[in-house]
Amino acid sequence: MTELVIQTKGLYKIYRNRTAVNNLDLKIARGDIYGFLGPNGAGKTTTIRMLLGLIKPTRGSIQLFGKDLTKDKMNILRRTGSLVEYPSYYGHLSAVDNLEALRRIIGGPKSRISEVLSIVGLTNDAKRLVKGYSLGMKQRLGIAAALLGNPELLILDEPTNGLDPSGIQEIRELIKDMPKQHGITVLISSHLLSEVEQMAGRVGIIREGQLVFQDTIQSLISQSSSGMRLSVSEPELAMGLALDLGCEGKLCGSILEMEPMQDAQVSQLVKRLVENDHAVYRVEEKRRSLEDIFMEIVGGGSEQ
Ligand SMILES: Nc1ncnc2c1ncn2[C@@H]1O[C@H](COP(=O)(O)OP(=O)(O)OP(=O)(O)O)[C@@H](O)[C@H]1O
Ligand SMILES: [Mg+2]
Repeated sequence: MTELVIQTKGLYKIYRNRTAVNNLDLKIARGDIYGFLGPNGAGKTTTIRMLLGLIKPTRGSIQLFGKDLTKDKMNILRRTGSLVEYPSYYGHLSAVDNLEALRRIIGGPKSRISEVLSIVGLTNDAKRLVKGYSLGMKQRLGIAAALLGNPELLILDEPTNGLDPSGIQEIRELIKDMPKQHGITVLISSHLLSEVEQMAGRVGIIREGQLVFQDTIQSLISQSSSGMRLSVSEPELAMGLALDLGCEGKLCGSILEMEPMQDAQVSQLVKRLVENDHAVYRVEEKRRSLEDIFMEIVGGGSEQ
């Protein structure tokens, strides 16, 4: 069985009469990059704050590394690095000095500072004052700080917020390597599927506090078929054959516009057409973009 690094059961956070997180069952396996997606106000940051023990759940349980967060908090947090919203740093200090200040609190060898600076690509700027850094560099310094304690789990809340496309790309490249090169499991939140689809293995989509999808990107893609389009020599007769086989669809001009079909149905239909001397010129799948499916799932968002 895959080891779950994060598991929540029936997690709730209710503020006065607003349910920010509603019955969340998250499952994040070791070695995965998990994209935690949802529109503004969906409950991502609230969930992450609960995972890090920064706020208390109203109900439900949280296990990290198979241990209950309420019982083993210090031990769990020592194994976890995080970046929630904006990183904090001293602008009048260099990156090295910022990390040294942190190292004095959390411990560990001095050599780890140059290691994490190298991982995030800040080695050449390590001695510059942080107040002169670009937003992307500050975010990377935030990730360096999260990595300082050699975590097994990295939790990043919208680390690409406010960055330009090249800054987003840099962060993405950095995160992609975490599981393989450093053995780190990553939870990364975002309100854009496009930002995480190239690196995440699994995604969880949260909407108005509820998890509405949790599976692989592949499974999300398989939902992207919106039907098949067939071009054949005798469309009307072909449509009759298709309906006989139980395939749903309609004729649009000379094109058969079919509802989504399983592979077996497609092969059965093509076989039947060929057996009946129809020429099959083209069989195309109509696909919606991943972003369209995502927007459909989150349904216009929950912004207030
Ligand atoms: N301290 C609080 N008191 C009351 N309501 C809160 C508090 N913090 C968050 N909320 C509400 O909980 C809901 C979820 O907010 P949260 O910040 O978790 O969303 P999010 O998914 O992180 O959004 P964003 O993409 O904008 O960062 C929102 O409706 C928000 O207004
Ligand atoms: Mg947030």
